[in-house]
Amino acid sequence: MNESTFPGTEQHDLEQYAGAQHGTEQHGTELSGPAATPAEPSAPPQRTLTPPENYAAMPRPTAKLTAEDLAPVSDPSGPRKIGPTGRPMPDLPEPLPPTKTGPAQVIAMCNQKGGVGKTTTTINLGAAIAETGRKVLLIDFDPQGSASIGLGVQPHDLELSVYNLLMQRDITPAEVIQPTRVENLDLLPANIDLSAAEVQLVQEVAREYTLQRVLEPIIPNYDVILIDCAPSLGLLTVNALTASNGIVVPLECEFFALRGLAMLTDTIGKVQDRLNPKLEIVGILGTMFDGRTTHAREVLDRVVQAFDERVFHTVIRRTVKFPETTVVGEPITTYAPSSSAATQYRDLAKEVLARCPAG
Ligand SMILES: Nc1ncnc2c1ncn2[C@@H]1O[C@H](COP(=O)(O)OP(=O)(O)O)[C@@H](O)[C@H]1O
Ligand SMILES: [Mg+2]
Repeated sequence: MNESTFPGTEQHDLEQYAGAQHGTEQHGTELSGPAATPAEPSAPPQRTLTPPENYAAMPRPTAKLTAEDLAPVSDPSGPRKIGPTGRPMPDLPEPLPPTKTGPAQVIAMCNQKGGVGKTTTTINLGAAIAETGRKVLLIDFDPQGSASIGLGVQPHDLELSVYNLLMQRDITPAEVIQPTRVENLDLLPANIDLSAAEVQLVQEVAREYTLQRVLEPIIPNYDVILIDCAPSLGLLTVNALTASNGIVVPLECEFFALRGLAMLTDTIGKVQDRLNPKLEIVGILGTMFDGRTTHAREVLDRVVQAFDERVFHTVIRRTVKFPETTVVGEPITTYAPSSSAATQYRDLAKEVLARCPAG
């Protein structure tokens, strides 16, 4: 797929403007395959920043809670409702208890935009899957260490992190992995050291396979491994995609969400062709959804036009509960177990487990 064929993006050629707004969008890395040399970074093209004429009048997401935010997404007793993605809401199958442990399904949360809900989804989807009795490992693969912080681990206090596991042959996963306060949920933490790995890995032989190599021995010990990617399509993210069999793409339901998706699907296609043919998109997840704006629904409509059944029926609504969970350092499923936000992540866990059976 390219930019011009992606529904909803053609009339909004505003990549530079979107990048300037978010300040975190980064450009892709050149994949080499095992034998090639690194590409020279090229200067970004200069373009004038022009917001759309009606930009000021467009509805903005709001953090205010409404009755609708607190209502369950699907009402099992009512008539079959049209879900928030505009399709009839299916009955999501209750995951059966696991019969064995492993081999793990490895799933990367990936979107090169920052602030779209990757870390929130890694933590809360991980905790919701762990509640079903499955053994779950979360890998913090962002030098900002947000997934570690979100689970109550202080990144600068770490003696060993995923960086040591990647760069030092004598370190084993068991030395770095920590249990969390949530049953069945372990964490491979990260801190700012990981940003050095992005540079140092360039020198390595088979540099795209480094994470896959270090994870190999622990695949039998877990049912699901979730990787929280950094907001970039650089070498660390390529390592995450090479080590994964699935990708979940969290997408904030707002105007600029669609920008950059073509670049992401292009990178996924390159990794599939050159490094990891078993990689598949498990699903696209609408996050920070505010059902009161026609705008949020329009964004989801366009994503459904483009990705069809790959879009999860579950969407994650905007609520102040998620920023609160970061402060207390625990998942929503333990912080507010009966909130609709926790229910939404449990529904997502059902969809993910239906699409990638584990345990
Ligand atoms: N559904 C939501 N409603 C409201 N705030 C959210 C929601 N999901 C995430 N957030 C908040 O938005 C910010 C960015 O989310 P995060 O998961 O860190 O994104 P990313 O990892 O993609 O950068 C965080 O402060 C987080 O608490
Ligand atoms: Mg993050």
